[in-house]
Amino acid sequence: HRHLLGIAGLNQLEINALLDLSEEAVDISRRIEKKKVALKGRTQINLFFEASTRTQSSFELAGKRLGADVMNMAVKNSAVSKGETLLDTAMTLNAMHPDILVVRHAAAGAPQLLARKVGCSVINAGDGAHEHPTQALLDALTIRRHKGTLQNLVVAICGDILHSRVARSNILLLNAMGAEVRLVAPSTLLPADVEALGVKTFRDMRKGLDGADVVMMLRLQLERMNGAFVPSIREYFHFYGLDEEKLKYAHQDAIVMHPGPMNRGVEIDSSVADSGRSVIHEQVEMGVAVRMAVIETLAKNSLELGPEDLD
Ligand code: CP
Repeated sequence: HRHLLGIAGLNQLEINALLDLSEEAVDISRRIEKKKVALKGRTQINLFFEASTRTQSSFELAGKRLGADVMNMAVKNSAVSKGETLLDTAMTLNAMHPDILVVRHAAAGAPQLLARKVGCSVINAGDGAHEHPTQALLDALTIRRHKGTLQNLVVAICGDILHSRVARSNILLLNAMGAEVRLVAPSTLLPADVEALGVKTFRDMRKGLDGADVVMMLRLQLERMNGAFVPSIREYFHFYGLDEEKLKYAHQDAIVMHPGPMNRGVEIDSSVADSGRSVIHEQVEMGVAVRMAVIETLAKNSLELGPEDLD
């Protein structure tokens, strides 16, 4: 592939190859000299139309650790504020000959649209409620490092599934790798196509967590709800917030994950988020490694594919 637009379209072999290369990137990132020269002379542009702490900074570090020249486009100060469209902005940047364009946008499908127009590799860093593929890969790497494999693991993804690109990418990846995926949420926070996702759904969190190997919490995305979230935050925490009492239902070695940013006291209690069961900071570390592996793989693929192959 020339682009990484989603987990959809990746097979088990390709996912494993990215995770294996990420392991090497973990080692590089833990050294004092954190450089590999795979991307020397290449240009990477990060184009983020939505806020980000983890994804943008880790893409920047990943590109730099591979030796690329990395430019962060400051969208707020750009001509986007004067009404320039997404496509015109991307084509303007494309004229400067980047090799990699990392895009985050509120509209589902925005990176796919750009991938058809620009001459470089496009990486989806999150598009609306559609996909966030590098998040799913970093979650998979974190799980694999703790559990050895993803096959047959029971993973409970809990909370606001409806608005979550993280959940969608994780469901696709975990299904592809042979894990058992459970979704734990009130019916109002489940997508309409949930039946087609090949997962089990639970409204009772204690039943959903029963025996789970991995508990993945999601942020309640109030900014995507237009004020239409009916239960109060206190009620939501009572039924769906992860606290020590509910975590007791999961396997005794279960790990607790959260993609961040966290709303403490809304979907997760601090006593769990800051406990020894939590791998939240390790997820952030794996984020740099996975993004290094993705950038390096795409750069290698585009050399092999040549300019006329537009996959
Ligand atoms: N998990 C994640 O995408 O975090 P950011 O929004 O901070 O990038």
